[in-house]
Amino acid sequence: MTANATIERLDVSERGLAVRWGDEVTSEYPWLWLRDHAHDAATLHPITQQRQLYTAGIAPDLRGSDARIVDDVVSVSWVDDTPPSRLPIDFLARFRLPRPARAAVDIERVLWDGVLIGEQWPTVAYRSVIDGDDGVAEWLGRVATYGFCIVEGTPVTVEASQELIRRVGYIRETIFGGFWDFQADLSKADTAYTNLELLPHTDGTYSHDAPGLQLLHCLAFDGTGGESTMVDGFRIADELRRDEPDLYEVLSTVAVPGQYIGDGSHLVAARPVFRHDETDALVQVSFNNADRAPFLLPANEMNRFYDAMRAFEVRANDHRLQWRRVLTPGSAMLFDNWRVLHGRTSYTGHRHLCGGYVNREDFESRLRMVLGH
Ligand code: OGA
Ligand code: ZN
Repeated sequence: MTANATIERLDVSERGLAVRWGDEVTSEYPWLWLRDHAHDAATLHPITQQRQLYTAGIAPDLRGSDARIVDDVVSVSWVDDTPPSRLPIDFLARFRLPRPARAAVDIERVLWDGVLIGEQWPTVAYRSVIDGDDGVAEWLGRVATYGFCIVEGTPVTVEASQELIRRVGYIRETIFGGFWDFQADLSKADTAYTNLELLPHTDGTYSHDAPGLQLLHCLAFDGTGGESTMVDGFRIADELRRDEPDLYEVLSTVAVPGQYIGDGSHLVAARPVFRHDETDALVQVSFNNADRAPFLLPANEMNRFYDAMRAFEVRANDHRLQWRRVLTPGSAMLFDNWRVLHGRTSYTGHRHLCGGYVNREDFESRLRMVLGH
């Protein structure tokens, strides 16, 4: 056991249980929290890990009378006739520092620009991803760190591409179907199904839950142009937060509607370009100028919004911040659609692409499983 999971002393007070750890950190656990998180089967189902307790039924003034270490658990006795509660020391150690709950997997992002990502963008070998979970851990870890990672050596078939995405999770169904493969045939009412340029954007600005991840695999390309672009939206956010705080605030507070009209659908959703969680941490970048729906604010606010959007869009289209490459068959790209913007230049000739979406929570789930979190 490491020092930060070794208990030096336990102190019972009116407010709760103070735990002093081996590295001198002291944690305070309120009595209600300890009762609520007891690990006996009547409180926490041992198989489903679901709480079996009616929490509102705990006396609001419940107090512990004693706490002692028994093997690797802390056993708490109560002043009333509540049976003693057991809490594993490892469990308590996970919460040694109080902080707001966060759902995301704790992997630090490396923000990049065109120079940093330059000639050394993140890749992983197809075989390693198919052969075992270590390869998947490498793959998804890089996506979490850099926002994208290219799987090299992917067999140039729809089936192999589909199998690849299933290594992450099940494929999300949308108006485009599940796994899709497309060419410039306008089979859907979307510019993706033409050979026109697609400026850097995120997909699904018209969805309340935009796809978390997207896989794109170019199966065939015989023509000119068709260069893929990627931009780190969190890097743009970083720059604007520092250099243009007023515009950053506008992009963080003005809800921008996105729409998809066609194929029997009329989808609309709205959120700011920069969406933050309750702790003010940036969690999602959304931007798709083609799919932006009309909206009108009071004139001064509207003009302010255009200033802010210009600052964002100019950066998204600045080669200094972009990774640019023609995707060749065999290179399947998985990217974080809540972080990086993607696009492609116009092209001539024949181009055949396939891909699909994975929900964010399914990506995070797989990442936790392969990392053993
Ligand atoms: C898309 C898209 C990129 C490409 O379909 O949303 O961005 O390379 N496609 O065609
Ligand atoms: Zn797209």
